[in-house]
Amino acid sequence: MAAELTITRPDDWHVHFRDGAMMQSVLPDTAAHFGRALVMPNLVPPVVTKSDAESYLERIKLCIPEGAGFTPLLTLYLTEATDPDDVASAHAAGLITAVKLYPAGATTNSDSGVREVKKVAPVLERMAEIGLPLCVHGEVTDPEVDIFDREAVFIEKVLDPLRQRTPGLRVIMEHVTTEDGVQYVQSHQRDLAATITTHHLMINRNHIFQGGIRPHYYCLPIAKREKHRLALRQAAVSGDKRFFLGTDSAPHVDGAKESACGCAGVYNAPNTLACVAHVFEEENALDKLEAFVSLNGAAFYGIPANGGTVTLKKQVEPVAAMDKLRTADGEVTVFDPLCDVHWYVESITQE
Ligand code: DOR
Ligand code: ZN
Repeated sequence: MAAELTITRPDDWHVHFRDGAMMQSVLPDTAAHFGRALVMPNLVPPVVTKSDAESYLERIKLCIPEGAGFTPLLTLYLTEATDPDDVASAHAAGLITAVKLYPAGATTNSDSGVREVKKVAPVLERMAEIGLPLCVHGEVTDPEVDIFDREAVFIEKVLDPLRQRTPGLRVIMEHVTTEDGVQYVQSHQRDLAATITTHHLMINRNHIFQGGIRPHYYCLPIAKREKHRLALRQAAVSGDKRFFLGTDSAPHVDGAKESACGCAGVYNAPNTLACVAHVFEEENALDKLEAFVSLNGAAFYGIPANGGTVTLKKQVEPVAAMDKLRTADGEVTVFDPLCDVHWYVESITQE
C-alpha cells in the first residue's frame, strides 16, 4: 500500500565525511537528506585543535552542493595533550558542537586518542562548565576483554566513573549497540543520551558471518546478539528523548574493506532514511520517526529543530538496491539491509 510521510528535516548526529576526494563524493549524499550533521574528527591526522577545525570547516564547505541548505557541525578529537583553553575558544567562536573521546586504539584512526581518562580531566571539567557535550566511543581496548563485551565493560569501568567525577558534563554514548548501553542511558535522567546507527537497528552479529565473512557488515562497535538489536529498536521507537539517530556512516573504499585486515565502517548515508522508516514501520511506530531522526538530537544539543521537511514515500515494489558510490579513490559499497525496502526520500523542503 502506498504511503507518504512528511516530517521535519532530520539531522545526522554522527557521520564520517573524511577529507579530499572521498569527502567530495560522500558529503552530497548526507546533504541531500539531512539539514545538519555532526562530523567526526578522526581524520589522518585528526582534527585536534581549533585551528584544525577552522581549516577542516573550510574544506567541508567546498564540498557542500550549492542550495543544499546543509550545515556541518564540527567536533574536536580529544587527546591527552588537548588544551582546555583552545577547546573553550573553539566553542565560544561557535566552531564546534562537541568533543569526541576515542579510547586509544578502539577503532579507525584512534591512535592519538585517550589512554588514561584522568589525563583529560581538566578538559572535561571545562566542558562541563561551558556546557560543551562529550561524544564517547564506548569500548574498552583491553585485548583481554572479548570484543562483544567491550561496550558493557566500558560503561562500568570508564564511563560511569568519568560521569561521577565530572558532574554536569553532558555525554552522548555514540552508536550504542547493547541492551546494557540502552539501560544505562534509561537509568539516568540528566546529561546523558545515546545515538543509534541505521545498521545496528537492522543487523545482528550473525549477519557478519552469513554464508561466509561479510566485510561490509563489519563496524565498530561490532553488531551484537539479536536481543541487543531488539533493545536498540525498542529504544529508538519509544520516543524517549534520550535516543536519536547518528548514522555512523563511515565510508571506506571496497579494497580496504574486502581485505585480509578489513577496515571497520558501514556506508549508509544514501539509504539511511529509507531503512529507518522501514524499521519504524515494522515496529508500528512511524509516528515516532520524527522524534528519533529530527527532534530528540536537536533538543539534547540545545538547538532548534530544522526549519525544512523531508517527505518519504512508500512504493509497492521494493526500491532498487543502491549502486556502489564511485569516488576518485575507488568504489564504496552502500549498506545492504538484506531485506526489501519500499520507502524512499521523495523530496525535501528548506526553511
Ligand atoms: O565502524 C566504524 N568506523 N566505527 C568507528 O568507530 C570508526 C568508523 C570509521 O571511521 O571508519
Ligand atoms: Zn563513527
